[in-house]
Amino acid sequence: MESAGTPVWRIDWTDELSVDNTEMDTEHRRFIALVNSLNEAILWRMELKQIKERMQAIVDDAMEHFAHEEALLKEWGHPDAEEHAKIHAQILADINEIMGRFGRDESEYAWIEAGLKLKHMLIEHLLTEDMKYRDFRRTM
Ligand SMILES: [Fe+2]
Ligand SMILES: [Fe+2]
Repeated sequence: MESAGTPVWRIDWTDELSVDNTEMDTEHRRFIALVNSLNEAILWRMELKQIKERMQAIVDDAMEHFAHEEALLKEWGHPDAEEHAKIHAQILADINEIMGRFGRDESEYAWIEAGLKLKHMLIEHLLTEDMKYRDFRRTM
């Protein structure tokens, strides 16, 4: 995903990330933009307030996106719709845990670590679990 000349932390959208559904692709693009914006806040050593705000934006976006994605998977009659929803629920629980744990610690380092964990978990989900329904859609 990282091409020459792209800063290491930046993620660029490529067609390889497409799940063959315009609505979901649009939301995944928005998610990637939010992740890049969090990365920038960390890289440019912005105030902690900025980092927290950008993390919260990713969390809010993920909650909305997950609900939408779950509804679509059901609508498509995807056999793993329920399993996918469970995975989403687990991610949201993990995010809550991370935000709660680091929320008590006001050091910048703790928040950066939390931000990186959050980002990693969600990107991993897009690259592994969401790609599974892309393959399913191609057989529809
Ligand atoms: Fe998903
Ligand atoms: Fe997704």
